[in-house]
Amino acid sequence: MPEPLDPEAVRPRFPALARGAVHLDGPGGSQAPEEVIAAMAEHLRGGTSNMGGVYPTSLAVVELVAQARESAAELTGSEPDEIAFGPNMTTLNFLLAHAVARTLQPGDEIVVTELDHDANIAPWLRVADDHGLVVRTAPVRPDATLDVDGLEALGVQVFAVRQPEPVGLGDAVARAEGEVFALRDVCSHAEVPLSEGEIYDTTVECWLHGSCFDLRTGQPTGLPATEPVPVYPVKIEGDDVYVAVEKES
Ligand code: FES
Repeated sequence: MPEPLDPEAVRPRFPALARGAVHLDGPGGSQAPEEVIAAMAEHLRGGTSNMGGVYPTSLAVVELVAQARESAAELTGSEPDEIAFGPNMTTLNFLLAHAVARTLQPGDEIVVTELDHDANIAPWLRVADDHGLVVRTAPVRPDATLDVDGLEALGVQVFAVRQPEPVGLGDAVARAEGEVFALRDVCSHAEVPLSEGEIYDTTVECWLHGSCFDLRTGQPTGLPATEPVPVYPVKIEGDDVYVAVEKES
C-alpha cells in the first residue's frame, strides 16, 4: 500500500522551491524534481535528435520515448500506446480538438462542463468557430457533481454517469487494521465525501486531490487539506456498531 505523501521529504527534491517563491498555480508551470532535471541534462549532453531517422541518435530517441511511454502507462494504469507526450496539456488538447473536428459536420454539438479546466474548453470553442460546431456547457451542482438533469435538458442522452453521492449525507464508518473508526464524511479541503476514498493502513485518501486523513485523529497527513475532519467515538456490541456523533448546532 502506498505511504501518504510526506511534503517535508519531497520538497527538497524540487530546486525551484529553494528560491523561496510559493508556486500557487500548478497547471501554470509544473516544477521539476532534481531527478527529472538530471535525466534531461544527461540526455541533452549525449546528443538529441528528431525521431524517424535511421541514424543512431534518432533510433536512441525512439527507444527512449518508448521507455517513457511504458513508465507513464505504469504510473497512470494505462497502455503505452495510450500515452501521448507534448509541450503541455493545452497544446495537446488543441491538436485533439482539431483532429476530432475533422470528423464532425456543421451544427454538430460538443459538450463541456462547468468544471473543466479552460484547456479543455478553449480548444473546442476555437474549432467550433472554424467548423460551424456548437459548444454546450453542462452544469455542475454546488457539490461538484455533474447535474445530470441539466445535462439532459441540453438534449444530451445520458447512458451512465459515475459520480459520488451528494456531500453532507452524514458520517463514514471505516474498518482498518482490525479496528472500526468513524469520521465526518466530508473532506475538509473541498467538501467531497471521504467515503468514496481508499483506505490505506489507518488513513483514508480523499479521491479528489489525494489528501490522506488519519482515521484515529482526523488530522490530514498531506496537502492540500490542512484542516482536520471530525472523528467520533465508536462502540461495538456484538454485530452492532454505535457511533457517538456530536449534535451540530
Ligand atoms: S477535496 Fe479532498 S483533498 Fe481536495
